[in-house]
Amino acid sequence: MAIVAMDIKNADFTSIFNIASLQNKLLVDLHWFTLAVCLMIGLVVTGLMIAIIAKFRTAENDDGSEPRQTRGNIRLEIIWTAIPLFIVIVLGIMTAYVMIIVNPAVGTKRKPDVIVVGHQWWWEYQYPNYGVTTANELYLPVGKNALFEVRSADVVHSFWVVAFGQKMDAIPGHPTNMWIHPTKKGLFLGTCSEYCGAQHGLMRIIANVVSPEDFDTWIKAQNAMPESSNDPAVAKGKQLFNSETCVQCHQIAGDPAAKAHIGPDLTHIAQRKTLGAGVLENNTANLAKWMQNPQQFKPGVNMPNMRLTDENAHDIAVYLESLK
Ligand code: CUA
Repeated sequence: MAIVAMDIKNADFTSIFNIASLQNKLLVDLHWFTLAVCLMIGLVVTGLMIAIIAKFRTAENDDGSEPRQTRGNIRLEIIWTAIPLFIVIVLGIMTAYVMIIVNPAVGTKRKPDVIVVGHQWWWEYQYPNYGVTTANELYLPVGKNALFEVRSADVVHSFWVVAFGQKMDAIPGHPTNMWIHPTKKGLFLGTCSEYCGAQHGLMRIIANVVSPEDFDTWIKAQNAMPESSNDPAVAKGKQLFNSETCVQCHQIAGDPAAKAHIGPDLTHIAQRKTLGAGVLENNTANLAKWMQNPQQFKPGVNMPNMRLTDENAHDIAVYLESLK
C-alpha cells in the first residue's frame, strides 16, 4: 500500500504552536488571551461555588425550617449582566482586530503572489507575477507578506499549512484570499482540511520557505526550459510520453505536444520531492510504478491505470526524471 513519503522528522507539521508566520503569531496570541480569560472565569465560578457550598451547607443544629426568602436583587443582576457583557465585548474587539490584521481587505489592483488551485487530490501553484506553474510543492520567500488566491477545480478543499495558522477554503467558482507572511525558513507541511473524497487524507502540502535570494534562484529555474539530455533512453521516453495518453492531461513547457492542464504540470517534475502529492518519494523506479498503476497507490485518483509495459514505463520515467 501507499506510504507517505514526507520527511516528517525534518518538517514542521503537527502543531500550530510552531509559529512560522506573522498571521499565526497573532492567532496564537489571541488563543492564549482567550484561554487566559476563560480560565479566569472558570476559576472564579468554581471558587465561588465551592465557597458557597462550604459556607451554606446544612448546619449540625439545623431545625429543618424554610430559610429566609428573597425576591430579586437589582444590584446583583446588574453586576452579573455587566461583567459578562464587558468580557464578551473585549473578546469580540480583540477577535475583530486580529481578523482585520490577519486578513485585510484585498484591493482589486493587488495581484496575488500565489494562486493555489485545489484538485482531487493535489495542489496546483501558480505564480502569476513570474509565469510559473508547479504542483504540490510551494516555495515562498521568508519575510515577505504573500497574497494567496485560493481556488478549486472541482469540489471544496481547504488549504492549510499548520505552522502558517490559517485555513482557507477552496470553493469552486468563488476565489478566496489569504495573506501569509513567513517568518522562518524551513520545510512546513500541511494538508487539505475539508473532506473532498476518497484521497482527502493524501492531499499533502509541502511548503518551502527560503531566503529571497534562493526564491529568485528557484523562480529562475522554474522559468528555464527543463535541461535536455542526449541520452537515447530520454529521447525514447519523450517519444513514448508524446504518443501515449500522457499529453492529454499533462503539460511540459517546451514540448508542443504536451499542453494540457488537467493533471499536474510536469515541466520540472524531477525537482520535486514526492509523487502523488506526498504519496511516494520521487525517483525513477517509483515514477515508473506510479505510471503503471496509480490506483495501487492512490485509489480513486483521476489518473487511470495506463497498462504500460515495464520497459515503456521505465523509459518514460527516465525522460520525466531528466526534467530538472
Ligand atoms: Cu482536498 Cu480534502
